[in-house]
Amino acid sequence: MNDPWTPYSARVVERVVETPDVVTLSLRFTDPEVQQQYRFACGQFNMLYLFGLGEVPISIMDYQDGCLQHTIRAVGRVSRKLVALEPGAMIGLRGPYGNSWPLEAARGRDLVFITAGLGCAPVIAAIRRAIAERDAYRRLIIMQGVKHSEDLLWQAQYDRWREVPDCEVLLAASEEAKVPFAWSLGMVTTLIDKARFDPLNSTVMMCGPEPMMRASIRALENNGVAMDNCYFSLERNMQCALGLCGHCQMGSPFICKNGPIFRVSDVRDWFLLEGY
Ligand SMILES: Cc1cc2nc3c(=O)[nH]c(=O)nc-3n(C[C@H](O)[C@H](O)[C@H](O)COP(=O)(O)OP(=O)(O)OC[C@H]3O[C@@H](n4cnc5c(N)ncnc54)[C@H](O)[C@@H]3O)c2cc1C
Ligand code: FES
Repeated sequence: MNDPWTPYSARVVERVVETPDVVTLSLRFTDPEVQQQYRFACGQFNMLYLFGLGEVPISIMDYQDGCLQHTIRAVGRVSRKLVALEPGAMIGLRGPYGNSWPLEAARGRDLVFITAGLGCAPVIAAIRRAIAERDAYRRLIIMQGVKHSEDLLWQAQYDRWREVPDCEVLLAASEEAKVPFAWSLGMVTTLIDKARFDPLNSTVMMCGPEPMMRASIRALENNGVAMDNCYFSLERNMQCALGLCGHCQMGSPFICKNGPIFRVSDVRDWFLLEGY
């Protein structure tokens, strides 16, 4: 888009209720020229603006049928109103912002996706892209953790991914007395020991709550994976999304401008510090 400050008007085309507090909105720009020019890379985010209320960063889950898809959890002032929007409602949208998952650099390697909760949303487009170019990668490992099995978004999609050649899908539920068939009991990190991938020739992409990513870093290191080959997507309170206001700083990097995706070894020390 020409002006990174200007929200362009977009219409809600479809609203899918995923769980009681998570909704996927399909959005289309009202100006066909803006719609046609818009491009994004897997892992980037948009700023969604509710007129008179405020703006929040939301990852681009994917682009399908001419619509940008955003999966949103109602947690506060703006997100609660966003998930309540019905088809036809208008919002402001500016973006895309941030960098993307290193899919090009990972060609020829095993791809390992580790996500928990709504952390799956920012990697969905990357997984779909990897599957669309299946021959470009070696094994695909998709691990997702939730509290209860019914919290899992897109169960049918995970089932389809199990059918992809050399693609291992591992699911875990941490707060369930008895997990469904083919699931594991525990945090997503318990799956890392079960997954079959080459620690010396894998690229890892992670997104989820920070304690889960800290635990994943430890589990990956125990399995011999170098942090140079691990990437994660980070979240902080954002205002400008342009590297100007400083709200999203973590040490020297700005999450909005230098991230949200970081090579773990580049920010490991900041990430492990309490309070950052
Ligand atoms: C790069 C990036 C990508 C993101 N992608 C997504 C996405 O795809 N889907 C999505 O739902 N959210 C996503 N988020 C988080 C989303 O931006 C926040 O949930 C949102 O800004 C909260 O604003 P609010 O006005 O609704 O809540 P506020 O009124 O600002 O906050 C209300 C309460 O919710 C808490 N809170 C804020 N954020 C979160 C959170 N993420 N999880 C739990 N509690 C929170 C606050 O601490 C506060 O207590 C992303 C954030 C970033 C930085
Ligand atoms: S949100 Fe303003 S610097 Fe990142």
